[in-house]
Amino acid sequence: MSRPDLLQRLAARTAGRERAGLRRRLRAVEHAHGMHIRINGRELLAFCSNDYLGLARHPKVIAALREAANEHGAGATAAHLICGHRREHVALEEELAEWTQRERALLFSSGWLANLGAMQALLDGDGVCVQDKLNHASLLDAAKLSGAALKRYQHADCESAARQLAGAGGLPALLATDGVFSMDGDVAPLRELAALCSRESATLMVDDAHGIGVLGAQGAGSVAEAGLSPSEVPVLMATLGKALGTAGAFIAGSAALIEGLTQFARTYVYTTALPPSLAAATSAAVRIARTETWRREKLNALIARFRAGAQQLGLPLAESRTPIQPVLLGDAEATLRAADELESGGVLVGAIRPPSVPANGARLRITLSAAHQEADVDRLLDALAKGLSRHCERATKAASSL
Ligand SMILES: Cc1ncc(COP(=O)(O)O)c(C=O)c1O
Repeated sequence: MSRPDLLQRLAARTAGRERAGLRRRLRAVEHAHGMHIRINGRELLAFCSNDYLGLARHPKVIAALREAANEHGAGATAAHLICGHRREHVALEEELAEWTQRERALLFSSGWLANLGAMQALLDGDGVCVQDKLNHASLLDAAKLSGAALKRYQHADCESAARQLAGAGGLPALLATDGVFSMDGDVAPLRELAALCSRESATLMVDDAHGIGVLGAQGAGSVAEAGLSPSEVPVLMATLGKALGTAGAFIAGSAALIEGLTQFARTYVYTTALPPSLAAATSAAVRIARTETWRREKLNALIARFRAGAQQLGLPLAESRTPIQPVLLGDAEATLRAADELESGGVLVGAIRPPSVPANGARLRITLSAAHQEADVDRLLDALAKGLSRHCERATKAASSL
């Protein structure tokens, strides 16, 4: 019997991506110090990290990691339910629950695994999962893998979400949204979505990967900023690898939700626990994120400085008040060229192209951090002025047709 060769098929897809000019490049960072990184021997000022509060290299975070590694070793050595659950995990879960004002929290090894585990456990192979079109890939894939019907609504459009829910009849429904959209930087209409879910008896899940640490009092995130209670947002997910500067994720909610996930979330049960040293480092990061308000203030001042400068330059900025500040160029090739030009001037930004964003939605994804200085933002604006002058007219046209 002759069958298609899977490796050949994959190679053909890769070649197709190359031909379309959409091949992704993998490059090794040789050294990183805050937002200053070295690639291929060249020093670059990075505007593409998600370390929004500048905690990844905080001395207290590193000291906590070292201390716990000395005590527990490099890894947890087993899943949580076997013997991987250490007191550092317990302490971190309690701190995260308290911070987000939920009864309990449960750690996962990554945001992907948290979204996968939560949806698979909650939807249990039936029902409907209603999602914003621009949700992160992990939420969309989690719904598909859960066996539920995935219904997508127009970005941030509550009426479109209501239509999708109404179409689901009396089936059990989960409505999931990013709190802050990862490629656009805008904040979801959480209060309206919560009201819709309450009217429709649907469960609301918010993925606050990019809101935690950044928005709300003490950085408790977009849900706290919107003033929504645990009953309005019963499933809150956030990651540890962005503003907290470490890695991993958690789901926070009622004691019953967490107990249910402990039993049924397969990505929790059948995987090695996060290294306890990372849990200890994250606890240190949470304490700093909550108390060092100046980090959020500085970040917001840098965001305002960037937006004012970019508007003066006439750059096609997205409507975003968060550290994610996309410059919408539209055309994938132009975006790659613009990023290359910025890099030759010593500034590194992400060139985001389809399929990570819709066709004609290519953009420079600029991210700001409290670890940047005003002079860094000015250098970025300078590089954008030089690097984009040739692309800008075309870019503005492309962006206005999005
Ligand atoms: C909104 C959102 N959710 C989930 C994830 C996945 O989190 P992790 O990197 O911890 O797997 C990301 C990005 O990485 C994200 O941007």
